[in-house]
Amino acid sequence: MTVDIFTEFRSEDITDAMLDDAARLFSEQYGIWGVHPPNRKSGKPGTRIRMSASQLRSQCLPEGARCSYVSATVDGTLAGHAFACRWDYKNMQVCWVTQLVVHRDHRQRRLATRIIEKVRKTEDEIFGIISAHPAACMAMSKACADTSFPHFRHPSAPEQVAIMTASPIAHIREAELRGKLFVPADVHTGLHSGVDSNFFVDHEEPFAALAWLEWERLWPLGALPDGHEYLLVFTCRSSRLERAKFLLEPRLKMPSFT
Ligand SMILES: CC(C)(COP(=O)(O)OP(=O)(O)OC[C@H]1O[C@@H](n2cnc3c(N)ncnc32)[C@H](O)[C@@H]1OP(=O)(O)O)[C@@H](O)C(=O)NCCC(=O)NCCS
Repeated sequence: MTVDIFTEFRSEDITDAMLDDAARLFSEQYGIWGVHPPNRKSGKPGTRIRMSASQLRSQCLPEGARCSYVSATVDGTLAGHAFACRWDYKNMQVCWVTQLVVHRDHRQRRLATRIIEKVRKTEDEIFGIISAHPAACMAMSKACADTSFPHFRHPSAPEQVAIMTASPIAHIREAELRGKLFVPADVHTGLHSGVDSNFFVDHEEPFAALAWLEWERLWPLGALPDGHEYLLVFTCRSSRLERAKFLLEPRLKMPSFT
């Protein structure tokens, strides 16, 4: 098996043919619609969740935004990809993974983690993802954090709101934040940090992963109500950026021992 992780493509270099392949991977591999309440609009339960190339372009690559695409092939066939978007918040660069999919035949082999490792840049300091799949959050944390999952450095809830409000991606900017981190009275759902995205994906596969991660005490984001997705935001500076900022930022003078 030969795995190739391609280098990142910036928005302007992403061709229609690449988007057609990405849309096909998503439509065949992402997941299926689950049951939804009668008052909510959603896909037909049991059918595949699909996305066209033009939907991908408008949702993941909005005009003027700093977006990118990383794909991985196995033996020459597209096996996984990630779309990411960057923006600035208080002099820091945010890196947000807006879509992540790995072909079923290649899951649980760290392919998602390796794709996000390729997405990550030295200048990135704030990382985020919204996903119904705990493995997507785990891959994000393994690729970008310098500490194990439960011990992350998270921005405060109001700061997370401000980071997301600054996003050029509409569904991030307008996300309805849920869970006790954002709505202290929201304890009955068991969700710690998430969004009500009206996304009624079938939870069978994500819940199998969740059961394992909870059993291993690796899961800090709580339970996931139907129609919701997890929200993970954390900060981490690469050591190179840490040193560069140290030299630029005003700091206390060290005492001299003469
Ligand atoms: C979510 C998804 C991208 C993960 O891809 P993957 O290549 O299997 O992920 P990785 O192998 O890199 O796993 C990363 C971590 O997640 C956890 N994990 C992955 N699959 C898991 C599972 N089935 N059960 C428990 N934990 C799991 C592990 O901690 C793993 O790290 P480790 O192998 O070092 O222990 C893939 O399952 C997928 O495409 N799912 C459908 C689409 C989707 O939900 N995408 C996310 C929306 S943004």
